[in-house]
Amino acid sequence: MAGEGGVARHVAIIMDGNGRWAKARHLPRAIGHQRGVEAVRRLVRALGETSIECLTLYAFSTENWRRPDEEVGDLMNLMRRFVKSDLPEFIANDVKLHILGDWRGLAPDIVEMLEDALSRTAGGARTLAVALNYGSQQEIARAATAAAAEGEITVESIERHLDSAGLPPLDLLIRTSGELRLSNFLLWQSAYAEMIFTDVLWPDFTPEHLTDALAEFTRRERRYGGR
Ligand code: FPP
Repeated sequence: MAGEGGVARHVAIIMDGNGRWAKARHLPRAIGHQRGVEAVRRLVRALGETSIECLTLYAFSTENWRRPDEEVGDLMNLMRRFVKSDLPEFIANDVKLHILGDWRGLAPDIVEMLEDALSRTAGGARTLAVALNYGSQQEIARAATAAAAEGEITVESIERHLDSAGLPPLDLLIRTSGELRLSNFLLWQSAYAEMIFTDVLWPDFTPEHLTDALAEFTRRERRYGGR
C-alpha cells in the first residue's frame, strides 16, 4: 500500500482556540464560539469543491461538561441555532449529517432536532459528521462490549460497532491552535491517519487553510506499516 497519498476522502478536525481568539480581542468566550460556528459554516459550504466525502468535527467532548454551566449552555444553544438555520442549506447542498458520541444523552429538544436533521439529510452525498458528547475511549469500550455480545472481538467486529461505522477510513486529522494532543478524539480511527497541527485559531480557519492541508496530505507518502 506504499505510494503517494492520493486525495483525502475523510478529514477530521479538532476545532481548538475559540477562547484564545476571543481573549486576544477582549471579547467574551461566547463570541469566540460564535465565530467558530461561522468557520464551520464556511467549510461546509466549500466541501463541494474538495475531495472530501466526510468531514468530522469535534464539537463537544465528554470532558467539555467540566466547563462552567454558562459556557456549556452557550455551546448547546449554538448547536441548536446552527442545526436550525443551516439544515435547509445542508439539504440543498446534498450534505448528510452523521453524529458520533453519546448524543442521545443531550437535552431532549436537541435529541429530537438531531433525529429530524438526520432523517431529512439521509440522502446526502457528502457527510458532515459531528462529534457531540463524544469521547473516543468510551466509543471503543461501547463498541467492544457490543462486539463481545455478538461473539468474537476482532478489529472488524469492533469497527462495525464504532460510531464511525459506514464512514470512509480517516485519512487526515487536523488540530488548530497549536496544541499537540488528540484529546480523546478518534483514537481508533487515527491508526493510519496523517496529522496536521496548525497554529491558526479555529475562528480564523478558512477553506484556504483546508485546501492547504489537503495539498500537504497528497504530498505525504503513506506506508501503512509497509515499506
Ligand atoms: C475549542 O475552543 C472549541 C470547543 C470546545 C468547541 C468547538 C465548538 C464550536 C466551534 C462551535 C459549535 C460547533 C458546531 C458544529 C455548531 P476552546 O474554547 O477550547 O478554546 P481555547 O482552548 O482557546 O480556550
